[in-house]
Amino acid sequence: MTSKPCRYGYATKAIHAGEESLPRTGPLIPPIYQNSTFRFASADECVIGFTDEGSDSVYTRWGNPTQSVLEAKIAALEGSEDALATASGMAAISTALLTLLECGDHIVAMDSLYSASHNLLNEDLSRMGIETTFIDGTDTNEFEQAIRTNTKAIYIESPANPTLKLVDIRACAEIAQSHRITTIIDNTFASPCGQQPIALGIDIVLHSMTKYLSGNGTVIAGVIAASAEFVERAKTQVLRNFGGVISPFNAWLTFHGIATLPLRFARHCDNAHQVATFLQSHPAIEWVGYPGLPSHPQHQLAKRQMQSFGGMVAFELKGGVEAGRQLVNSIRLCSLAVSLGDVRTLICHPASTTHLHISAEARRRSGITDGLVRLSVGLENAEDIISDLNQALPLTAV
Ligand SMILES: Cc1ncc(COP(=O)(O)O)c(C=O)c1O
Repeated sequence: MTSKPCRYGYATKAIHAGEESLPRTGPLIPPIYQNSTFRFASADECVIGFTDEGSDSVYTRWGNPTQSVLEAKIAALEGSEDALATASGMAAISTALLTLLECGDHIVAMDSLYSASHNLLNEDLSRMGIETTFIDGTDTNEFEQAIRTNTKAIYIESPANPTLKLVDIRACAEIAQSHRITTIIDNTFASPCGQQPIALGIDIVLHSMTKYLSGNGTVIAGVIAASAEFVERAKTQVLRNFGGVISPFNAWLTFHGIATLPLRFARHCDNAHQVATFLQSHPAIEWVGYPGLPSHPQHQLAKRQMQSFGGMVAFELKGGVEAGRQLVNSIRLCSLAVSLGDVRTLICHPASTTHLHISAEARRRSGITDGLVRLSVGLENAEDIISDLNQALPLTAV
């Protein structure tokens, strides 16, 4: 479903976008079409179902009205022509890359990426004859230098998982445009509230909607926001055949989550700022990475390209791997869990969990040091989160 230009403010769009076609009389909330297939009264109606206009009411792997509401909401929030919801964030990433790339193509990607995205590029796409050059990406010139004649795309995360490094998104998009290369960003950490990359020149925006967009830790889901032409290709050439479609129930839960995203995200940002400020003053901590702190090396860039700085905080413990283990074993209110963007504060120590299967050398290259801790600051009272971290951290530098 292609989004219509929406004149409303952001919070209004989060609640109402995609729901314009609901009748004035009837359910207030778009109902779930919890069905796999749709019936037709006649051969003529069936023919319409197989056109673009009716493709969300034929068979749920092709589309579903509940999914369409969610897609229109995302397109309105990201400012894209259209969007395509998928079964997971990884389904969105793999669908976008498989739509764009073929054997013999080359892609330039940041080295600090979500681990499965790194593996997809480095192992799976490489097996299919698609080569990736990984770069740091904080110096924009690196993109220019890595581009070859067969480069089809640049793939970035900003802020990146788990290091919170930033890329100058506008500069990166301009380089790509001058080479007629497609740009793709995983915007999961910023959410559409924190950063709208299409306005900065990016072509394709991806999200794991498992995180801030759904927001309650109840869903696995993903989305591609892009031009109507790209979304159509991704849907008809890849998603239908590879099958990574979102279930109607997950689509329904996700658009309920999105209705409160602007409110939740503001609180995530506020809490994260307070927690990051506390961590910065703690003697057991070497450094704190939060784009909203003036001490973040790219704080000026963050102010230029982000509307707000998000709920993710990275920090380095002076005591390395052992200090990280001790911290996650001592927390009481915060939860030791992967994922992010939940109402609850989640903590993880990549060197012993999410990035365990990436070689030590590759970990080092992507800035994942032994004492690096990733905190997804939740919506509890900031003073309670701080007090829990305070009791779990060693009293003095180790
Ligand atoms: C930045 C980022 N992108 C993509 C993903 C993958 O999302 P999903 O688990 O919904 O497939 C994750 C998961 O943690 C992530 O952190």
